[in-house]
Amino acid sequence: MKRIAVLTSGGDAPGMNAAIRAVVRTGLEREWEVFGVRNGYAGLISGVMESLTARDVGGILQRGGTMLGSARSQEFETEAGRRTALRHLREQEIEALVVIGGNGSQTGSHHLSQMGFPVVGVASTIDNDLFGSDITIGVDTALNIALEAIDRLKTTASSHQRAFLVEVMGRECGYLALMAGLAGGAEAVVIPELETDPDSVAKELRTAYERGKPHALIVVAEGAKYNAEAMAAHFRDHREELGFDLRVTTLGHVQRGGAPGAFDRILATRLGAGATEALVRGESGVLVGLVKGDVITTPLREIVGKKKPLDLHLLELSRVLAK
Ligand code: F6P
Repeated sequence: MKRIAVLTSGGDAPGMNAAIRAVVRTGLEREWEVFGVRNGYAGLISGVMESLTARDVGGILQRGGTMLGSARSQEFETEAGRRTALRHLREQEIEALVVIGGNGSQTGSHHLSQMGFPVVGVASTIDNDLFGSDITIGVDTALNIALEAIDRLKTTASSHQRAFLVEVMGRECGYLALMAGLAGGAEAVVIPELETDPDSVAKELRTAYERGKPHALIVVAEGAKYNAEAMAAHFRDHREELGFDLRVTTLGHVQRGGAPGAFDRILATRLGAGATEALVRGESGVLVGLVKGDVITTPLREIVGKKKPLDLHLLELSRVLAK
């Protein structure tokens, strides 16, 4: 192998830069030339890529976001878009591509690999919904950001005897909400994987006050049927019978920004280096992820279109611990 390219795609995640750095420097160590593609698959379609040196990826380990830029390319979802991307890769004599991204991005990797181009994916998304990796790049940092917000909200909630709702990201997956609720000591957790009606949440909060708690906090996943908006409307309509106010905080993209923590830097470094090793072994059409503590590869065809299950026992545990 002589020339490889790397791109970051989909929603950015803290640690993506550490993964780029690892791919570039382990590739250079093998005496390959490593090209960085700008703005994900969109950059591949317009053929925007440049050769990266070890210095080009200096000072990015501790930075959030992605130095290469990212995008959600609708054009790449079409056969014509993918053919254009492939043409540019071949014109530039690129022999393999590393795609750092989540579910949608790895579906794109799978398409390219099915078209006969060598691709290796690196599991990166704050949603942690990707099969083939127990944990993905960015999750730990996003979780810590959510926790900081929850801890702060609890102090103001206690002062005013108010209920607070925090909505976290995660698309259709409740992982971030469940773990933030568990680690933040929430009185209720609402996730897409289990339909929870607002009345039962209100009951949990009321009994929390009856037990003498000075605050009540609900963590809601953005993908839940009763998300922040729906839950807030219900609480507003039943304000009199409930006897308390609900304040809503939607964390949104705050969770994706900022510097990656130690866990994500190390995970991203290991997975990025793992992508180079997979290419050295001649693997293609695989995702590099962390399974039971080891960096392993899983065929992309076993990953795409699947939803990683949540450990719902942890939901019950968080309910028991909210006593
Ligand atoms: O997939 C990562 C994620 O942050 C999801 O949690 C969220 O639903 C989505 O991206 C937001 O996408 P965008 O940044 O395009 O608004």
